[in-house]
Amino acid sequence: MKENKSWDLYADNRKDILSIVGLNFLSDIPRGLFNGLLYLFILGLVLPVLNNTAHDFSYLWELFAFYISAFVLYLMLTVISQTNNYVRAYSISTDLRIVLGNKLRRLQLGFFKQKDPGDVTGRLLHDVSQAETTLSHNLPDIVTSVVVPVLIGLFLIYVNAEMAGIMLLSVLIAAFFVILARRIIAALGMEHVTAINQTSSRILEYARSVKLLKSYDMTGDKFSILDNTMRKLKKLSFKSEVYAGIPVQIFLLLLDAGYLIMLSAGATMTLTGDISIPELFTFAVLGYYFFAPIKKLGPILVLMRYTRLSIDRIGEVLTAEELPFDAEQELPDDNTIEFNNVSFRYKDKDVLKNINCRFPVNSMTALVGLSGSGKSTMINLIARFWDVQSGSISIGGVPVKELNPDLLLSRISMVFQDVYLFNDTIANNIRVGKQYATLEEIKKAARLARCDEFIEKLPQGYDTIVSEGGSSLSGGERQRISIARAILKDAPIVLLDEATASLDPENEAVIQEALENLVRGRTLIVIAHRFKSIENADQILVLDDGKISESGTHDLLVSGGGLYQRLWMMQQQAGGWKMRSSDPAVKYDNIMGTSSVSVDQQI
Ligand SMILES: Nc1ncnc2c1ncn2[C@@H]1O[C@H](COP(=O)(O)OP(=O)(O)O)[C@@H](O)[C@H]1O
Ligand SMILES: [Mg+2]
Repeated sequence: MKENKSWDLYADNRKDILSIVGLNFLSDIPRGLFNGLLYLFILGLVLPVLNNTAHDFSYLWELFAFYISAFVLYLMLTVISQTNNYVRAYSISTDLRIVLGNKLRRLQLGFFKQKDPGDVTGRLLHDVSQAETTLSHNLPDIVTSVVVPVLIGLFLIYVNAEMAGIMLLSVLIAAFFVILARRIIAALGMEHVTAINQTSSRILEYARSVKLLKSYDMTGDKFSILDNTMRKLKKLSFKSEVYAGIPVQIFLLLLDAGYLIMLSAGATMTLTGDISIPELFTFAVLGYYFFAPIKKLGPILVLMRYTRLSIDRIGEVLTAEELPFDAEQELPDDNTIEFNNVSFRYKDKDVLKNINCRFPVNSMTALVGLSGSGKSTMINLIARFWDVQSGSISIGGVPVKELNPDLLLSRISMVFQDVYLFNDTIANNIRVGKQYATLEEIKKAARLARCDEFIEKLPQGYDTIVSEGGSSLSGGERQRISIARAILKDAPIVLLDEATASLDPENEAVIQEALENLVRGRTLIVIAHRFKSIENADQILVLDDGKISESGTHDLLVSGGGLYQRLWMMQQQAGGWKMRSSDPAVKYDNIMGTSSVSVDQQI
């Protein structure tokens, strides 16, 4: 396992942590004090009876007054330190979430592809909460559980070293079992924590897709995946709880045994006169207060081992490789995009090979090619979701590799075929395009994207809450919302990846027009699913297996005798009818992204 640099996470919060520890330490002192005073008070009451002497009332009153003051001080400090614990721990974990959020934005998209979506959210939610609980509850408890027994222990050693020795010995032996339990969690825990996150991501997935699955009558099947994950979690939870639980139980038993042995030894010693009855009494009372916090400490230390796993997992995100950039580099004014000898592969799959092309400002370029030829990849590379392995992509002459990804994205509007909507109002979902947009601006963008009609029909209009992912809206409606976002964002570079694929032809024609209006003065790149929408493009690039095989205008390419001509002919023959090939083996089904030409009839 990696070296544990856990507390580095909190490097900026050292003061908060110190204040949590310090205040709890302070509040524990009067607590130890009034335990001791209680003992002296009882002694002051009992001893005169045993010795048949008169009570010293002024002494007792004094003790009582001290006792009450210590108690009040203890209460006050406890309230202060508890409030402090919560506030500080909360602000630490908020800071941590912000740091994580910022970090996630600077990571390559590849990081998320390697991980389960539940795993990433798990780190943000579960692991950070685990760390927060540790700071607000466990850390103060640990302080108390150490300070109080140490104070009492010192006092008891002073009273009778032999009996105190028995107590300390039992603590030492018991401690061994806590170490054992922590070892077991270290060995099993990662699997357990991963299983917890896997379960949450399966549940998410299931909840998101339940409608779709139902329509295919697949709930049973899909459910079995969820079911298996749950079973695995149950098994692992059981394993780590039992395996780690047994040593914890032994720990508790040993401490109880220590207390009893000490008392028995004390009783014997009163017979030989090595210890007085009041001393034995002292051990009975304070021994209890000595052991109680230690009994609490053991399980906490065991649970803290889980926290360390969480912290390690958070650390893994924080140390993941970022997209590098040159902090000095400003965005150029020019928005011309250029590919110079660009080659790109995902892991070991070559996708783009030696691409050279230029996307001028104030022009529309269409990317055409069979499904899998690399069109979406080209668009994603411009937005720097990944970095290319060789060659360079530049904007206004500056390689995107040198640009801060946040800055770069501020200049780009993207619309994808798959649209994700947040669990928020429609207005806020459109506002994603421009943070401080007024409702008027939002409505205007919605009108241009043709969403106003369906939005106004919704029960709360623009304030209607969309369900997570957007499953309460149709694919076409989601896509129109995402187009409204892009229109609202009003960025100089517009990348449309099959942006109108889920729309009916009527809406598509209108939106197409709106999008074309968007082009004025901008750099527009379109992956379209219908040829009709790209006939006016200033330039068309035909991608064939990761290479540009043809380029030019529609008029040029349509008679060029190449792939473009073949594809165009096929769509012409299909007569613009939307026919979906039901046979997935038909390669050309996805000719232009999701174009619906049924090619089996033509070939
Ligand atoms: N994240 C990814 N990881 C690995 N391979 C990918 C990834 N995204 C796309 N690919 C592969 O890269 C190739 C090009 O994909 P893509 O750019 O989406 O094509 P298009 O948009 O033209 O359909 C395909 O073979 C696809 O399977
Ligand atoms: Mg694609």
